[in-house]
Order: sequence, then C-alpha cells, then structure tokens
Amino acid sequence: MKHYQTIIEPFRIKSVEAIKFTHREEREAALREAGYNVFRLHAEDVLIDLLTDSGTGAMSAAQWGALMQGDESYAGSRSFYRFRDVVQDLTGFRHIIPTHQGRAAERILFHSVLKPGQIVPNNNHFDTTRANIEVEEAEALDLVIPEGRVPALVHPFKGNVDLAALERLLAERGDRVPLVMVTVTNNSGGGQPVSLENLRGVRALCDRYRKPFFLDACRFAENSYFVKLREAGQGQRKPKEIAQETFRLADGCTFSAKKDGLANIGGFLAMNDDEWAERARNLLILTEGFPTYGGLAGYDLEAIARGLEEVVEEPYLRYRIRSIEYLAEKLLAAGVPILRPAGGHAVYLDARALLPHVPPLQYPGIALLNSLYLEAGIRGVEIGSVMFGLRPDGSEVAPAMDLVRLAMPRRVYTQSHVDYVAEAVIAVAQQRERLRGYRIVSAPKLLRHFTAHFEPLA
Ligand code: F0G
Repeated sequence: MKHYQTIIEPFRIKSVEAIKFTHREEREAALREAGYNVFRLHAEDVLIDLLTDSGTGAMSAAQWGALMQGDESYAGSRSFYRFRDVVQDLTGFRHIIPTHQGRAAERILFHSVLKPGQIVPNNNHFDTTRANIEVEEAEALDLVIPEGRVPALVHPFKGNVDLAALERLLAERGDRVPLVMVTVTNNSGGGQPVSLENLRGVRALCDRYRKPFFLDACRFAENSYFVKLREAGQGQRKPKEIAQETFRLADGCTFSAKKDGLANIGGFLAMNDDEWAERARNLLILTEGFPTYGGLAGYDLEAIARGLEEVVEEPYLRYRIRSIEYLAEKLLAAGVPILRPAGGHAVYLDARALLPHVPPLQYPGIALLNSLYLEAGIRGVEIGSVMFGLRPDGSEVAPAMDLVRLAMPRRVYTQSHVDYVAEAVIAVAQQRERLRGYRIVSAPKLLRHFTAHFEPLA
C-alpha cells in the first residue's frame, strides 16, 4: 500500500460507551465533594479520563472471544498453560507466577527477598514499587541519568540508568543491594524509554557484582518501539524481537498486565532463580491464590495471553506512540511547557514551569489538574510533590519535578478526543496567573495521593 502521512487508528469500533457532559457548576460541586482530589471523583462525572493508562484500555474482539475459552479449574487450568507459554516465549524466564496486578508481584518479590536497611536501585521507582520497598524498611533509590530529571531537555533515552552512579552504589554499598531494578518505560520519569545499550550496561554491572537484575516491565512494548525508532541498528527489527532481547538481559521481572498486557486486570512475577521462585509461590498461595491462577480468573489469563500477542504488533505500536506525540506537538506549538520528548503512554505537563508562582509544597500539579477538570471535565494525575514529597520520616521535600500526567488509555480515544484535550490544556495555560495552590487537610502516610483531602489556598 502507498505510504500515506496520516497514521490512523489501526482498528474499527465494534462497541461504544457514551461519555457524560457536565456543566461547570456540576464539576465545581463534584470536585468540592471529592476534597479537591480527582482520585475521589465519580468517574461518571469525568468526560475524558486520562487518570491512567492502567486497566483502562479497550480489549479486542479476539480478547473478548478468548474470555469464553477461559478454563476456571482451580489447579492446572488450560488457560494458565496458554498464558505461561505466551509469557515464556516473550520473556524466556523459567518461572511464571500470575498475580492480580503489578503491585502484587512487587509485594511478593520484595516481601520474600528484602531485609530492613537494604537498598533497591531503579531508574525511577513508581509509587507502588517505592511503597512496597519502604514498607519492608528498605530504601528505594532513583538513579536515572541527570538528563532524566530536566523536563525541557530532549534526549532519546531519558529513562536510562546512570551507570556510573549504579557502579558507585554497588562498589561502596553493594552488600546492602539484593537486586537491581529498571523500569521500562520509566513512568515516574515521564514514560521515557531505556536503550538496549543501557540495559546491557546494567547487565554487565550486575554480572560483575553478582546481583540479580529485574525489570519493572509494565510498558515493555512501548519501550521496544522507541528502541526501534531511536537506537542505532534497531530500525529493521520487529518490536517483538527487541522485547525478547530486553527480557533476556534480565533475571526476572514484575509486570502489570493492565498496561502492555492490554487487559483490564492482571500481572505476573517471573524469574529464573528456583529458590526465590519457591519463596514467591509460597507467599502467593497465602494471599493471592494457587500458583496457576494467582488471584485471576481463567478468562483473565486468556485475555492477557492474547493481549501480549497484540501489543507487539507494529501497526498498533506505530499508532500508539504517534498519538501521544501528536498531543505533545499541539501543546508545544502553543507554548505549554511539557516534559520532552513525549512519553510512550502519556504527555506530562510541567506544572512547576507553568505555575512558577505556586511553590512546590503548595502543589502546582494539583492546581493545574483541578483547573483542567473544572475547565473541560478532563482528569489527569499529579506526579510530583504530593505523590513523592512525603519522606518515610514524615518530613516533606519537593521532588525533582512537579508534573501532571495525561495518560492515554490504549485503543479508547480517537484523534478528535485528543484535539479537545489539547484545546482545553491550552485554555487553562492561558489563565495560568489565576491558578492558586492547595494545602493538604488530611492524608495517610503511605501513598497519600490516592486519598488525601485538599483545600484551595486563598
Ligand atoms: N510499575 C509501574 C512502572 C507502574 O506504572 C505501575 C502502575 C505499577 C508498577 C503497578 O502496577 O497498578 O498493576 O499494581 N501504574 C499505574 C499508573 C497505576 O497509573 O501509572 P499495578
């Protein structure tokens, strides 16, 4: 076929769901009722929901069909073996342990191997990863390259690990490091990819210091497509081949099937080490379920198996990466400060740069997020001082960035939805001087962003 410029959605729509339009006064009341925390809104009161790309994607007709093939046997279900074979073909890992979602894999891994006082390095830990390490009284250390901490700076692999810093850690305090993690793509750092070259560097250091290397692989397919687009010598390879190589550089992974599994729920923990796997399975049985279902229904395992096959298809990934970039381009053209380049699953607005008059501990991300909801019924998420500003000792410090993430659910919104989002963000940016900060009225100690109550400052 002739190569046209327009990259279209590589699907047609078989089933639709209406979205609800609201008036500004209704949104004001809803937000007040929610304690000015968009996590607490009724989703029905949101017009375009970019809170997360996790579990919010549209399954394909083939996935819905696969649901009917689900074998609900308690032990040894046929659906488990289909799931295991697909995951093993992709990752090459020996032990495949299903879990109900990514954080269950994290909890089981960390609870079975971490001791208090230990350190787990990563490019950037995601919130649940960090929390599951801190709850074991261990330290979650972020070692992304310096470029990865500067929103406006353009770099092809902003998710890369600072290999010199990792080497220093392993040389000086290696006895306290039980494993090394890398998140692909680096969600907390802007959905930015990690290059194969960098992953090989991590592998070499892990070999030298005899440390297991685990991937937080939630968005492995998006990472693989960035590698194809941006890394020298990778342009001719299939995304699946790149993904297979990525996994084979590691000793194990945690995975949330709610992202690049194209499923609404699910995940897995996978690894080569027999002893760690044994410990993980014992814990799994205690809290998740028998090792051939791990808290999932047989039909979930079928949906994930099919999703993992669809997610590495090239027309899908081309459209996926392009649709995020399209939104980023519109915002940049209008002068809205965003984290550059665009991430694989989201555009991250730079709230700190947009609202210099709101200090980090008055939560510029919340100010921006809430006006976007009031203006246009759009919901995003703060990734900044609320999510990451609270230390385990209870003190508050501003993290490197205050971002508002607009995450795109997979295969859900069309180009006109994206045009609407761009128009709304630009309208809010034009009123930037009017936006005010917030204070926290009440919040729990761990993962406070989910349930905190806020109050607008006068
Ligand atoms: N790791 C990363 C990098 C993630 O982005 C997430 C979830 C998890 C682990 C945990 O997986 O939700 O299945 O338990 N991220 C979602 C988000 C929630 O909105 O980015 P989970």
